[in-house]
Amino acid sequence: MATSSHVGGDELIIEDVHFSYGSVPIFDGMSISVSPGEFLSILGPSGCGKTTFLNLLSGFLKPDAGSVLLRGEPIEPEDPHFGYVFQSATLFPWLSTVENVEFGLRMAGKLTPEQRREKAMHYLDMVGLKGFENYLPIRLSGGMQQRASLARALAMEPRLLLMDEPFGALDAITREIMNDELLRLWDELGQTVVFITHDIDEAIYLSDRVLVLNLPPRGVFKTLNNDLPRPRSGPTTRTADLFWQYKKELIDDISQVSALKKKVQAAQMN
Ligand SMILES: Nc1ncnc2c1ncn2[C@@H]1O[C@H](COP(=O)(O)OP(=O)(O)O)[C@@H](O)[C@H]1O
Ligand SMILES: [Mg+2]
Repeated sequence: MATSSHVGGDELIIEDVHFSYGSVPIFDGMSISVSPGEFLSILGPSGCGKTTFLNLLSGFLKPDAGSVLLRGEPIEPEDPHFGYVFQSATLFPWLSTVENVEFGLRMAGKLTPEQRREKAMHYLDMVGLKGFENYLPIRLSGGMQQRASLARALAMEPRLLLMDEPFGALDAITREIMNDELLRLWDELGQTVVFITHDIDEAIYLSDRVLVLNLPPRGVFKTLNNDLPRPRSGPTTRTADLFWQYKKELIDDISQVSALKKKVQAAQMN
């Protein structure tokens, strides 16, 4: 069982990272560390560099200076150390659900077709999609498509799960169901999760720690250690005094960052 002691350790070490798109700096000395099995959420208004940060963790982007280390080693994008779940499900429309889940395993080329199918079915079952394996993605609802994407990421059995606003396109009720499913899977599988969202409730409900990003290139605005007990459940966790206290604090933080964003934008217009 994960606990809040999973905070700020040595699974991932991001140290003094500098990164720019051309002449536009996004991070100018960003540092943070993440423990094995920690659930870290990253909050921030759009454009503050959340996706860029995740891509530095995946190795899709390389820092201009500083280091990103996973268990002490630099990250190589070709090393399948992570599962990535995007905001839109990005399933191949011409492949069935199970074929989509098998896709990465096929690329990795380590398993026989029977082993691939067995593994894909195992993770489809875990995300509650057994019985839908032969459906094309178009026949699945938005929530089911995100479950399939999650199964696809989990089937690679990564130690690190990177999620970029994965439930942002879902309605509020489906999102809450997916939050519970994700916590159940995380509890069972124990990966380290870096989860991006702009939803404060979701960040609090899920994580051991919430990191609020500042405007580029300022890096971390603040980190909040989340002491809400686990296991969490909607009716208990979302109504706890501590939940509301965190929520109030984070609303205040985000509004400070947003106010700064408006100020910077106004200055750029003049
Ligand atoms: N490939 C790119 N080239 C140039 N600028 C980019 C690129 N991707 C993102 N940006 C800019 O970098 C900033 C941070 O973007 P991003 O990481 O996508 O933020 P977020 O995910 O928080 O919305 C934004 O101003 C965005 O316009
Ligand atoms: Mg983004």
